[in-house]
Amino acid sequence: MNQVMNQVYPVIWQNNSVLLIDQTRLPNEYTLVEINRSEDMAEAIKNMIVRGAPAIGVAAGYGIYLGAREIETSDRSQFLVKLEETAKLLRATRPTAVNLFWAISRMLKTAYETVGKVSEIQQALLATAQAIHAEDIKTCKAIGDHGLAALPSKPDKLIILTHCNAGALATAGYGTALGVVRSAWSAGRLARVYADETRPRLQGAKLTAWECVQERIPVTLITDNMAAHCMKQGLIDAVVVGADRIAANGDTANKIGTYSLAIVAKAHNIPFFVAAPLSTVDFELTEGSQIPIEERHPGEIYQVGDTILTPPGVEFYNPAFDVTPAALITAIITENGAFAPQELYKANGGNNN
Ligand code: MRU
Repeated sequence: MNQVMNQVYPVIWQNNSVLLIDQTRLPNEYTLVEINRSEDMAEAIKNMIVRGAPAIGVAAGYGIYLGAREIETSDRSQFLVKLEETAKLLRATRPTAVNLFWAISRMLKTAYETVGKVSEIQQALLATAQAIHAEDIKTCKAIGDHGLAALPSKPDKLIILTHCNAGALATAGYGTALGVVRSAWSAGRLARVYADETRPRLQGAKLTAWECVQERIPVTLITDNMAAHCMKQGLIDAVVVGADRIAANGDTANKIGTYSLAIVAKAHNIPFFVAAPLSTVDFELTEGSQIPIEERHPGEIYQVGDTILTPPGVEFYNPAFDVTPAALITAIITENGAFAPQELYKANGGNNN
């Protein structure tokens, strides 16, 4: 696909349907998939047609509404029982990104708190799904602004290294880590992005590189094992990554490989930032060891297209995320400002819940 796009929106609400950019087909094909049923939304999340913590939350919000729309009863209690079944189906898709659970809880809260007929609850659910969607773009822009202020000051323009894809595709639009990159680019403070390719699913190579091309932000793609070398050569000024779930103490789960990146950044005295909305912070978890880590199919490691890469008899381990200890994180950039990990509660108005 050679065409360059201006704005990237991975989730679109149009004509009473959800349209998702099929992220498994980028960068070669830009395809929209129409979703009208909660079961199809659950499959789309599981199969990573839509992925990235905030985008999963937005998609799940609509998934609950689609489920609500399918329920054919005028009895409120029966409706709520069926809605809980939809919630269960959607919750079972991906365990690590807390935005999924956050959005479902917010939708259920709307359902329980709306007094009136079932049709009124359904309407209220659509309004909440749309609010989650709209808020996320604003949140990402605020993260971009705060991130810009938190970046190291230097006479030269900065080079930022990122991992996985925490861009427009992973949110409602704009992005978290790539939101900071976008804001730095607009402010004239960015020279270039270095993108880790991000084995095994290559979100950096396929998605981050694609987004940067759409925005005309200069991007250099490296394989994951090149980061330390690039840092040693003085090529990197800061690392900015997204998050799938952050514990109350600032320990951060993000795409596998983030932890080793944080270690090498520390070894080279390079600031390491996590950019994420407060909906990604799980204040119920005191530390990162409590975060559930998704394990995915080993085919992601041993197979590229139709080609099997490994000999028979090999065993595989394919955790999709790892946890970076708070001690390795310079600051967590939220919509309410950038905070040292141990002061993350301040981002939430001083509340640890
Ligand atoms: O498995 P994915 O592609 O859903 O993982 C995505 C990430 O790890 C992102 O960095 C994270 O969700 C933040 S997205 C703003």
